[in-house]
Amino acid sequence: MATAILLVGGYGTRLMPLTKNTPKPMLTVAGIPVTEHQLNMAKAAGITQIVLATSYLSELFTPYFGDGSKWGMQIQYAVEKTPLGTGGAIRNAAKLINSSESIVILNGDVLSSHNLSEQIRQHEANNADVTLHLTQVEDARAYGCVPTDSDGRVTDFLEKMDNPVTNQINAGCYVFNPRVLSSIPIDAVVSVERETFPLLVKNGAAVYGYVENAYWVDIGTPQALMKASVEIVKRHGDFLIAANSVVDPSAQLTGGSSVAPGCQVASGARIQSSIIESNCFIGANAQIINSFVSRGTKVEEGAKIESSFVANQEIVPIP
Ligand code: GDD
Ligand code: MG
Repeated sequence: MATAILLVGGYGTRLMPLTKNTPKPMLTVAGIPVTEHQLNMAKAAGITQIVLATSYLSELFTPYFGDGSKWGMQIQYAVEKTPLGTGGAIRNAAKLINSSESIVILNGDVLSSHNLSEQIRQHEANNADVTLHLTQVEDARAYGCVPTDSDGRVTDFLEKMDNPVTNQINAGCYVFNPRVLSSIPIDAVVSVERETFPLLVKNGAAVYGYVENAYWVDIGTPQALMKASVEIVKRHGDFLIAANSVVDPSAQLTGGSSVAPGCQVASGARIQSSIIESNCFIGANAQIINSFVSRGTKVEEGAKIESSFVANQEIVPIP
């Protein structure tokens, strides 16, 4: 059975100040951390062994995920003292994997509903070196552009171009045959997108695309983060409240809002299209609209917060 590496070590610069004390993959989307959504997705594809490739704020993952048994998984942690880049992180995390099975690699800030089992199946049927999940977007400039030929072979890998040659992009979920790991230098800073993939393609390695346009989002920008949470909540209803949070019956939650575990929402509060992380207290009659409230925040009675990030006692307009 395949194992998985989750790349969760980036700085999350575009999401400051939310990412000052919380690594981007630990930010809450629809009531749970992004990484937990990914664990659930990997588990659904039958994967139970996971390595978290951590660096920035690495110490934040272990208290939450532990050994993974709560999710019926085995989780290990690879820590880079200084970030090794996406390729270096994969190589470093793979030291903990002792298996000749396929390795699934997930960018830690992507939520995807694509059929991972089918991606793995095609990878193995093709005896591929790497199989990349590809999807189509309107504006490909912020992504890796990945043209393919009529057999689904990747013909080029062009990370972040001004004039994209195709709107078919790297969706940040790869299946690796372990034999390709040796093409990544050990303990070095390497970008899989700018170095490893272009080199593999140039050398004629069997690099395939798995094209599927299922629900897909990279939560790495403020707008995308907010939109993703609202969309996921709305699949099930107009709002979501974690089982052990207490919301006064007179409070109103609307527009895809979510309240994570350990929160208290007082009477008359109105929360619209917002994310409330764990252990927050929302005072009586407070209004929170289109905003992200970081874990442990106390929102004063009657406060009005709109289109803002609330973190570390700061209230910052969403850029
Ligand atoms: N462990 C570790 N170490 N993880 C890292 C490092 C590192 O040095 N650098 C980045 N990461 C993790 C980030 O935490 C994130 O989860 C993932 O790698 C991708 O990094 P981003 O910084 O989010 O990259 P991007 O969004 O600009 O581009 C990437 O994702 C796109 C799809 O969303 C590329 O893979 C693009 O080709 C792709 O289209
Ligand atoms: Mg990203």
